Amino acid sequence: MRRAEHPPFQHDGLGSIHGQLGNGHSQETFAKLIPTIMIQATQITKSFGGVEALKGVDLHVPKGTVKALLGPNGAGKTTLVRIMATLSKQDSGTVTIGEFDTLKDAEALRRQVGLTGQYAAVDEDLTGYENLRMFGRLYHLSKEEADTRARDLLKEFGLTEAADRPSKTYSGGMRRRLDLAASLIVKPPVLFLDEPTTGLDPASRQGMWKIIEGLVAGGMTVLLTTQYLEEADYLADSIAVINKGKIIAEGTADELKEQSGGNVLEVTIKTQEHVEDARKILSDHSSQEVSFDKDRLHFSAPIEGDASVLIDVVRAMDAVNITIIDIQLRRPTLDDVFLALTGEGVEEEPLPEKSKGRRGRHGKKKEAAK
Ligand SMILES: Nc1ncnc2c1ncn2[C@@H]1O[C@H](COP(=O)(O)OP(=O)(O)OP(=O)(O)O)[C@@H](O)[C@H]1O
Ligand SMILES: [Mg+2]
Repeated sequence: MRRAEHPPFQHDGLGSIHGQLGNGHSQETFAKLIPTIMIQATQITKSFGGVEALKGVDLHVPKGTVKALLGPNGAGKTTLVRIMATLSKQDSGTVTIGEFDTLKDAEALRRQVGLTGQYAAVDEDLTGYENLRMFGRLYHLSKEEADTRARDLLKEFGLTEAADRPSKTYSGGMRRRLDLAASLIVKPPVLFLDEPTTGLDPASRQGMWKIIEGLVAGGMTVLLTTQYLEEADYLADSIAVINKGKIIAEGTADELKEQSGGNVLEVTIKTQEHVEDARKILSDHSSQEVSFDKDRLHFSAPIEGDASVLIDVVRAMDAVNITIIDIQLRRPTLDDVFLALTGEGVEEEPLPEKSKGRRGRHGKKKEAAK
């Protein structure tokens, strides 16, 4: 996400190193050199019975930036976010938010963070306005302050018209917005968003992205979890890929894309009888495993070379009478990166009842060709 720089050095009691710098250099010079780390997790482990949900996770988020924690179902995203927000305790390791430690300074730390959980926290029988006013009172705002803040947030999140009806009548996108508004009552400097757009239609997702962009432009530090590669790509300054309780890669979207090694050749053929021939040709030209979608007769082949490979493949397929419906060479997406990192698509696993229908595009298992 591109945005204006905000000064990372301000007195806010949150681990700023303002005033601790040597003489002879302006703060501005240092501000450009040393980002202030706002969220720091070191070697976090957590098990539930026999399940090792987190196996030594390190993560840091510089102030005023967005980090995406990208991973499939069961990777450990919610477990990590809950520990960072003091809703759960790690078995070992430390988390600090600014100068506060989750175990030693939980109460002070909680005042600095907002959390929008994976499942809605709002009371469905209360109206949008009543929900926000209630959260305001929970944060010890006076009646007048809670009222004003609720009205302001409803306006900011486009919910004024729906303010006075029960939130159970809201659409999924409206509920997510109300949920997010509830975590912003006291304008926390740090915000955790656990899958903020899962289950939303494309328009609502875009709306949520714009809201998150606005918050970050105002200086907020955000850690968001997502299963959507394009979401991480769009919103995050840096992405950590988590799989089975471990961070398996970290970097900007571009850096991660480079790891998948070049472009991807996408080919759809016409008939089933040519699948094996096509697979052989593509494997011969590909730098890594070729994946195949048998429903669409569609291959994706990572290619190290340039567009000349495309011509070679067309010639080779033509020579054995394979009819190509569509062929294109494209830049790799983060989906390709995940495949390259894990060597596999994300495994299909049974979904709990409440999450049916909310699986992202990661949920589709890819069949890897030999
Ligand atoms: N309270 C719990 N009791 C037992 N096991 C748990 C508990 N919470 C999480 N787990 C297990 O820990 C692992 C990580 O779960 P977690 O909810 O952190 O994954 P996630 O990345 O948030 O997945 P999703 O994308 O489905 O939300 C999973 O194997 C899960 O079954
Ligand atoms: Mg989760």
